[in-house]
Amino acid sequence: MKKEQLTTDEKLRLLCGKGLWRTEDFDGKLENVRMTDASMGVRMPMHQNEWQDEAPSVAYPSMQMLANTWDKETVRTYAECVADDCLDAGADVLLGPGVNIKRDPLCGRNFEYLSEDPFLAGTLGREYVAAMQGEGVAACVKHFCANNAETNRRQQTSDVDERALREIYYLPFAIACEAKPVSIMCSYNRINGVRASEYKKGFDILRKEYAFDGIVISDWDAVKDRTASANAGLALEMPFHRENYEQLVAGYRAGKLSDETLDALSEQVLSFVARCKALGKGKSSRRTKEERIAFTQRAEEEGIVLLKNNGVLPLKKGATLSMCGLYARPCAYEWSKNPELLSGGGSGRVIRLTPMFDMKALLEEKFGEIAYEPAFTDNSVNDSFMDQGVAVRNAAERDVNLVFAGTGSQIETEGRDRASMRLAAAQERTILDTAAVNPNTVVVLFAGAPVDMSAWLDKVAAVVWAGFPGERGGEALVNILTGSVCPSGKLSETFPKTYEDTPVFREYRDSQVTRYAEGLDVGYRYYDRHPEGVQFPFGFGLSYTQFVYHDLSLRTDGERIYVRYCIKNAGTYDAKEVSEVYVRPVMPMVYRPIKELKGFEKTCVKAGGEAQAEVVLDGRALAYWSTARDAWTVDDGVYEIAVAASAQDIRLVGKVKVTDGKLVVLS
Ligand code: BGC
Repeated sequence: MKKEQLTTDEKLRLLCGKGLWRTEDFDGKLENVRMTDASMGVRMPMHQNEWQDEAPSVAYPSMQMLANTWDKETVRTYAECVADDCLDAGADVLLGPGVNIKRDPLCGRNFEYLSEDPFLAGTLGREYVAAMQGEGVAACVKHFCANNAETNRRQQTSDVDERALREIYYLPFAIACEAKPVSIMCSYNRINGVRASEYKKGFDILRKEYAFDGIVISDWDAVKDRTASANAGLALEMPFHRENYEQLVAGYRAGKLSDETLDALSEQVLSFVARCKALGKGKSSRRTKEERIAFTQRAEEEGIVLLKNNGVLPLKKGATLSMCGLYARPCAYEWSKNPELLSGGGSGRVIRLTPMFDMKALLEEKFGEIAYEPAFTDNSVNDSFMDQGVAVRNAAERDVNLVFAGTGSQIETEGRDRASMRLAAAQERTILDTAAVNPNTVVVLFAGAPVDMSAWLDKVAAVVWAGFPGERGGEALVNILTGSVCPSGKLSETFPKTYEDTPVFREYRDSQVTRYAEGLDVGYRYYDRHPEGVQFPFGFGLSYTQFVYHDLSLRTDGERIYVRYCIKNAGTYDAKEVSEVYVRPVMPMVYRPIKELKGFEKTCVKAGGEAQAEVVLDGRALAYWSTARDAWTVDDGVYEIAVAASAQDIRLVGKVKVTDGKLVVLS
């Protein structure tokens, strides 16, 4: 359909959705588009006008765990599987992926986002969008932008300087735009005082600088003034609100919205509908539900991060085990069908298809009878102690003691920030008391954002980050704990020691205003100057083997830098290694973070073998946003190219030099 076939009233109506999840169709005159969420699997509402009435669907590891895989292929398969779920459910648009930057570890929605680093979030987001749209389902990249707190989220302004916006907060969207997403969702917050739904400056940058040719859709209820948001370039308000629609009509009649703008926006919505339908034409799901469920295990295995290990893992054959913590047997609880324990809450939640796992039963298949005691009853209540005496006695009598702890949707959820980075007191107490009688205590954590482990970390033998794991999380965890699969996930965000160690802790914040005084120094960019605050660095994750990096060689064609190196697996496990390439300007002409991630690779290396890795840095890798020039700029000078196993573990360093804009390799 062409806009010429629409009356003015219809054009106005088209800019406002239909019900909660669809675009307007004028009773069949136009095809409509149906949307659904998926931060951990598809949350498909069964009825058009109900929020909570959701159809069960495959539960995947959360976006945080997906990012911890650092694996583009896993990301692509994940997106294809989610697209298949959408196709089965009749959804044309998936409201994701969430590439928004994680700034504050307490933000309630961190589990829905990929990273603190714009290159990692953007690159994985781009792969996700390309794979999802290739499978026939349109993406809606979210939330644009600087959406870093849930507290008072509709009022608060994220006050960010221009350079940080460009280099940190816009950048993942810029990279994701390379995959030509059909839509982008604005956030709830204000940006430097302006509502995200009226953020013309940002929308113009998306279009003019990042070649975004889709539509901007509002977050649900993020519009306060429909006429102002239309004038800013927001094409579609979701969901439908009669008063906003009437305000738009009144605005048009009062001459506050020109015919030119109305034509342009209605044209955008029409082409959005056409693009979504063209993407989905003739497409049906390629993988069965069983195959998708099986994939959730692979994704989780790739994303689990081994944070600490004094050698107790992998568990030795014949070891006797004790186990405590209600997360060991979420299957045993009455509310096991809802996702409270192993999931974040809000629009990201999913009603899973299969029952929650039973780690006791899964591990008993390999280790015989296991002594189990829940020890604590709830994840949010500090004094929810059960019989810790039994848990302690069990721990004292066995070779290895496993504590399963974490958060869940009561703590990590849309609409509310976490009150603390610490686990509930009953959980900390259980870890401390059982570790006091058994030095071989392994803590497994199920959560979606960094946990303060300072009270107990040095008392335990091992820590495994299992995140929010999806349907087959239990099986994945067994494979990691027993060494059938060698851990290969690495952190996609820094784990600070305590909240007091974060840059945001001391910054100005009131009910309306959050000041981003740290500027560019988000995540490891801050901790590189304050390493004492880091518990586990960005990009960190242990393996059951050791990797030796060697033979770095750099080459350039004058624009790109080709970074090649060898990774040797010096241990006895076949394994995968994530290697990270950072760029470090040696004597920068302006303030710059000490180093920035510009490439990464996950490489499979057989025990005792070696593999060659190659990362290609493009022209943007050396650039910063010059506020003096209003442009991306590469200054003359020397740049180190560092190949690293984490942000705090640099293994190889080479150098390039830029002279009069010409790039050469130095070493
Ligand atoms: C969330 C979005 C989500 C939308 C629709 C909003 O509350 O912020 O991320 O896509 O609801 O469920």
